[in-house]
Amino acid sequence: MAHFGKSFIKLNAIMNRGSKAVICYYYKMPGRDSISARNYQTISKLKEREPVNQIGEISQKVFERELRFGAHNYESIPVALCRGKGVYLWDVEGNKYFDFLSAYSAVNQGHCHPKIIEALKKQADILTLTSRAFYTDAFGEYAEYVTDLLGFDKVLPINSGVESGETACKLARKWGYTKKGIPNDQAKIVFAKGNYWGRTISAISSSTDPSCKDRYGPFMPGFLLVPYNDLDALENLLKHDPHICAFMVEPIQGEAGIIVPSPGYLKGVRELCTKYNVLWIDDEVQTGLGRTGKLLAVDHENVKPDMVCLGKALSGGTMPVSAVLANDDIMLCMKPGEHGSTYGGNPLGCRVAIAALKVIVEENLPENARRLGEILKEELHNLSKTIVNEVRGKGLMQAIVIKSNENFTATDVCLKLRDNGLLAKSTHRDVIRLAPPLIINETELRECCKIIIDTINSFRK
Ligand SMILES: Cc1ncc(COP(=O)(O)O)c(C=O)c1O
Repeated sequence: MAHFGKSFIKLNAIMNRGSKAVICYYYKMPGRDSISARNYQTISKLKEREPVNQIGEISQKVFERELRFGAHNYESIPVALCRGKGVYLWDVEGNKYFDFLSAYSAVNQGHCHPKIIEALKKQADILTLTSRAFYTDAFGEYAEYVTDLLGFDKVLPINSGVESGETACKLARKWGYTKKGIPNDQAKIVFAKGNYWGRTISAISSSTDPSCKDRYGPFMPGFLLVPYNDLDALENLLKHDPHICAFMVEPIQGEAGIIVPSPGYLKGVRELCTKYNVLWIDDEVQTGLGRTGKLLAVDHENVKPDMVCLGKALSGGTMPVSAVLANDDIMLCMKPGEHGSTYGGNPLGCRVAIAALKVIVEENLPENARRLGEILKEELHNLSKTIVNEVRGKGLMQAIVIKSNENFTATDVCLKLRDNGLLAKSTHRDVIRLAPPLIINETELRECCKIIIDTINSFRK
């Protein structure tokens, strides 16, 4: 690991210097072809050893190539993956890992779920894209299934999670002008501080994270902020501004560090939004589809938002599929031609989404997440209190918070977890998020808990 860590730093330094000569030298080295996709698979089949302790030359080459030709907009954990099945991932050298990120909760159904892959392959042979310039048999079937399942009149299909937030904001503004009577161009949308809904200009305009805003302005007008989990502050804002058309909020803030609001918060949001005739946009892109122990996280408080944003697990990690769900009084404010997406509602995505949703329902994944979430929390109580401040979360969306005075970071822990065969990702300096696929079973979970506890305790001074 130490050897590997040094190489990675060296590699980054080379990349950051932007020395083309050095980089080209790397790519003219013999053996470059050894990182072809076919080789990854062959190697993966040959070796399945644990615990992981070696990141070798093949991985190095993957990093080098990605850093050389890919934009540097992610700070990836140094592991070069090439295969996934269920709760497991394998790297290009055959090392096997538990996946405790699930592609930021997109792979709730586990990697390459056979039913989802079967739907994908079957539809890929028939029809993949027409655009919604035409009707297809797949979109109607999907729209009926998803609206029925979640109890809304209509679905607006798009692709990524951020697009669902953007679409919901547009719908809210249109509703504000046509139904609430807000004067044109004066509609406002309220967001909670600490929110994360993507990284487009609109999404960063509502962000309170300065690092994503620096030199990306100017920002979207008409966005207001209120502290998360603070109903008084929300009421104060709604009461005094009749131009507010919506409040967009995550039922548990994911990227902010798995922040769970107080019991009654979501109920209170519902009541305030109704009282002040403001739409409640519920961003369930990360919390939705079973992750927190219910189909939607708002189900914990039995409340119904006006709009729900879904993405990620809607396709079980196979392709970008997202959605906004709402009733007709909101959805029909938008007329043909006012919003669109070439790939939105494509037959391939629709069939995949039906299969992905059916897996969640038929395999009772929300209940599995609830039950195993409790075991996870209970097990993590064995973590050393001298290192760990808090374990928080709901269902299989949990986080370990390291004490801020420690001389190691959550990323250091994640690197060591990788060495011990478990892949997790930090958020902020001190939070390690834990989000395995919801198909994980109790034996696997307990094995993972042991890895996590042993790893974190190994940081004890
Ligand atoms: C709550 C929430 N909304 C929206 C998004 C954006 O989704 P995407 O990255 O698919 O655009 C994310 C991504 O992590 C998210 O956590």
